[in-house]
Formats: sequence, structure tokens, C-alpha cells
Amino acid sequence: MGIPTTHIDAKSKDEIAKTVLMPGDPLRAKYIADNFLEDVTQFNHTRGMLGFTGYYKGKRISVMGSGMGIPSSLIYFNELFRFYDVECIIRIGTAGSMQENINLRDLVIATSACSDSSINEAVFGKYHFSTTPDFNLMLKAYETSKELGLNTHFEQVLSADQFYDDMPKEISDNLVQYGIACVEMETYGLYSIAKKLGKKALGIFTISDSLVTGETDSAENRQTAYTNMMKLALEIAE
Ligand code: HPA
Repeated sequence: MGIPTTHIDAKSKDEIAKTVLMPGDPLRAKYIADNFLEDVTQFNHTRGMLGFTGYYKGKRISVMGSGMGIPSSLIYFNELFRFYDVECIIRIGTAGSMQENINLRDLVIATSACSDSSINEAVFGKYHFSTTPDFNLMLKAYETSKELGLNTHFEQVLSADQFYDDMPKEISDNLVQYGIACVEMETYGLYSIAKKLGKKALGIFTISDSLVTGETDSAENRQTAYTNMMKLALEIAE
């Protein structure tokens, strides 16, 4: 396949920066472009999955929606890495807390992601592949997070294949006991494809709801927490 790809309009690789920040929601990508980037150009309209390139403190950065779940987001991760020569994707999303000490609006950085997704079964057979981020990017996130005074947890996350799942309590109890911090739906796919292609990836999340307490954050509170996550991602982007 050449460019433009099936799902991305950009006619030249130059339209997309080497680092792409990816929220699930394309309107959040637009929000970041409108509020944090300068000299913005739009490079994607296909399927409403808006993508923009601009500058943050002089650094050229792209931001684009990924959609929800591994099947949607993996299409974009693949096309950006393989056909547009993107080197680094930072997923910025929301997640549901699975631990008592991880509260609404806290940030979580995925030191690894486990999943019920079967994408790696054909690749590794009975061997389970441990998905991990780029270490230097994660280190930079750790240092920058301290500088910004953010409450950031560095833990393993669950990338669930279904938002409305029928997970038996026994299994969710085990996930909690084994320290899984929170549940989201894309990072296992991102870390897998990045390792396969020798690219860089990191997943950063804002806790938007808690499976422990049943709380969901208000839209107003969410905005501040998301701003912290976006700033962190923009600061560590290279
Ligand atoms: N489950 C899956 N993905 C999510 C959740 C959740 O509870 N919250 C935010 N993203």
C-alpha cells in the first residue's frame, strides 16, 4: 500500500510529524490542536478521524484520533508507523481504575499492558508476549511528571476487548490482586505493533471512572485532568 492510505488522507509523509499524540476521540485531537498547537494544518478527514500537525514550543507534533478498541486503533497505528514513517505514538486516553489507591483524575502510565485480545496468538502461539513501552520515553514521562507535580502511577494496565464485558468476578479479582491499575482498550495493540516495527510508544491515561467505587468524573473536573495529561504528553514528545 502507498499513500494516501485507506484510512488517512495525507498525500505526503511530510504532512505528519515523527511523533503523533493519539486520543481515542477525534474531537479531543481537534481540541489539542486548537488550544496547544501553533501553525496547525489538518491532514486527515477520512471517517471523521481528524488529524492535525502543528508546533508546541517549537517542536513539530501531530495529533490524531484513534477510535476505540484495538481493531480501530491498530489500523491507524499501522498506517502511521508503516506508511507515514511515524517514529513515536503516545496514546492519551481515559481509563477506569481497578485499585483503591488510584483515584479519579490521577494519571497512569502503562509500564506494560495485558489483554484478552487474540492479536498475538497467531504470532507467538502458546507463548504470551509481554507488551512494554519505550523505556526512554517512559523515563522522560517520569521525570517530567515530577517536574510538573503530577500524581502519576507507573503500573500495568488491562487493554480490554469489550467495554461491556462479562468478566467473571474470579478473574477481575485476580487482575486486581496482581496489581493491574486500570482498564482501557488500546495500549496492548499499540505496544505490540511498536515492538514489531521497532518504533516507540507510550500510553498515558487519566482516570475517568472507578470500578472500585463506581464513581464517574464530572465533565468539568475531567477537563483539568485531561489538560495535565496533554501537557505531559506534549512536553515529552520529541
Ligand atoms: N473500561 C474500558 N475502557 C475505559 C473505561 C472502562 O471502564 N473507562 C475509560 N476507558
